[in-house]
Amino acid sequence: MKKNKKNQSLKLNRRELLVGSASLGAMAAASNSVFAKEVSSKNLPPNVPEWTGELGDGVDVNPYGMPSQFEENVIRRNVEWLTASSQSSVNFTPIQDLEGIVTPNGLCFERHHGGVSIINPKDYRLMINGLVDREMIFTLDDLKRFPQTNKFYFLECAANGGMEWKGSQLNGCQYTFGMVHNVQYTGVKLSDLIQETGLKPKAKWVLAEGSDSSGMTRSIPIEKLLDDCMIAWAMNGEALRSEQGYPARLVVPGWEGNMWVKWLRRLEFGDMPYMTREETSKYTDLLPEGNARMFTWVMDAKSVVTSPSPEKPILNKGVHQLKGLAWSGRGKISRVDVSLDGGKNWKTAKLHDPVLSKSVARFTFPFEWNGEELLIQSRAIDETNYIQPTIQELQKIRGVNSIYHNNSIATWLVNSDGKVDNVRLG
Ligand code: MTE
Ligand code: CO
Repeated sequence: MKKNKKNQSLKLNRRELLVGSASLGAMAAASNSVFAKEVSSKNLPPNVPEWTGELGDGVDVNPYGMPSQFEENVIRRNVEWLTASSQSSVNFTPIQDLEGIVTPNGLCFERHHGGVSIINPKDYRLMINGLVDREMIFTLDDLKRFPQTNKFYFLECAANGGMEWKGSQLNGCQYTFGMVHNVQYTGVKLSDLIQETGLKPKAKWVLAEGSDSSGMTRSIPIEKLLDDCMIAWAMNGEALRSEQGYPARLVVPGWEGNMWVKWLRRLEFGDMPYMTREETSKYTDLLPEGNARMFTWVMDAKSVVTSPSPEKPILNKGVHQLKGLAWSGRGKISRVDVSLDGGKNWKTAKLHDPVLSKSVARFTFPFEWNGEELLIQSRAIDETNYIQPTIQELQKIRGVNSIYHNNSIATWLVNSDGKVDNVRLG
C-alpha cells in the first residue's frame, strides 16, 4: 500500500518533469539557467542521440580542461554597487551550483584590496625577521623542501553576509553566503618552518605582510601561528591561482579570511600586536554602546541551504533533496538542523562524509513539496556545542552597526509557484 503510493508520486513527478518542459523553460529563463536551452526529441530514448554518430574532440584539443559549455552559468559574480573599483572589491562563489565540499579553483571567490599581483615564482622570496634567532629569506623551492601537509580548510571573509545585518538585501544565495570557499591546501606548517629560524622567548606576535599593492598586513598571536597555520603553495592539487595569492599565501584555519595574507612576502616576529589598519579601523565591530569589538578572529558556526534557494527554485511537486553547507572555525560540525516553517519545528539533516575540522561539511534533507509556502532555515551546531544564532539573538549583543561576523540563520521563502526569496522574519 505504502509502496504503491510512493510509486504513484514518483510517476507523477516524472510526468510533470517531462511534459512540463515549456513552463520549466520559462522559469529557468528567469534564473538564466541552461534548462532554457531547447530539448531535441531526436536525442531522447529510444532514438540514438546525434553525438553517438560522430567522433568527438581528440586528446590534443583541451590541454587544460574547462567545464562543459552547458555549465556557463556556474561562475563567480560580483555586485555592481559593491564594485566601485574592481581592484578593491569582491566576487562571490556560486555555492548554489556546487556539490560535495570542494570548491573548484576557478570558482573560489576573490577579495582583493589592490588587485591581483602577478608574480614570477623565480622572483618570490619570503623574509622572516624580528624576534627570531636567525633572520632568513626563503625561495619557493626552499619552502617546498620542508615536510608538507595537505589539509581541507574553509576560508570565509568576515564580511560574508555583511549586507544582511539590518534586513534582507540581496536576493541570492551566492550574494549573501558566497564569500566562502573550501579547498585542500598543500604547504608547510609554520611550526616546522620556524624551527629553522628559531624564536626569541619574547616573540608573542607575528606580522604577516603581503606583497600586493594594498600592502595587506595583519597581526597573529604566535600560539595560533604555531598551532595550525601554514604557508600554502597549492590548492586542490595544483599551484595556487594568482587570484588566491600565487605563488604562496598564509593559511589561518577557522579564522577570518582577511588574515590569510596572499602573495605573502614577510613574517616579522614581535612582542605586541602591530595594530595595523586592517585590525583597527577595519575588521572591528561597532557595538551599540559606541565601543568596538576588535581581534574578532574566529569564524563562528554557520550554515546555508544552497538548494532550494533564490537561484534554485523548486521546479515540480514531489520529493526533493534540500542541500546545504555548514562550517565552524572552532572545529567540526556535529549537527545541522533544518526547518521548513521558519524555525517552529526542526529536523536533523544528514551530514555527509567527510566531516573535517575547520572545513565545510555537506548536509542534505529529503522533503516533499505540494505547492505550499515554506520558510526554509538551517542551523549549524559545532563540536563545542556552539549553536548558530538567529539574527535577533545576534543583534541583541551586537546591535545593527556591524558589517562583519554575521553568522545568523537565513530564511528562504518558497512561494506557491516554487520561486524562492531571501526574507527576514520577525
Ligand atoms: N592578502 C593580500 N595580500 N591582499 C588582499 O587584498 N584580502 C584578504 C585576504 N588576504 C587580501 C589578502 C581578504 S579580506 C580575504 S577575505 C581573503 O584574502 C580572500 O581570499 P581569496 O581571494 O582567496 O578568496
Ligand atoms: Co575579507
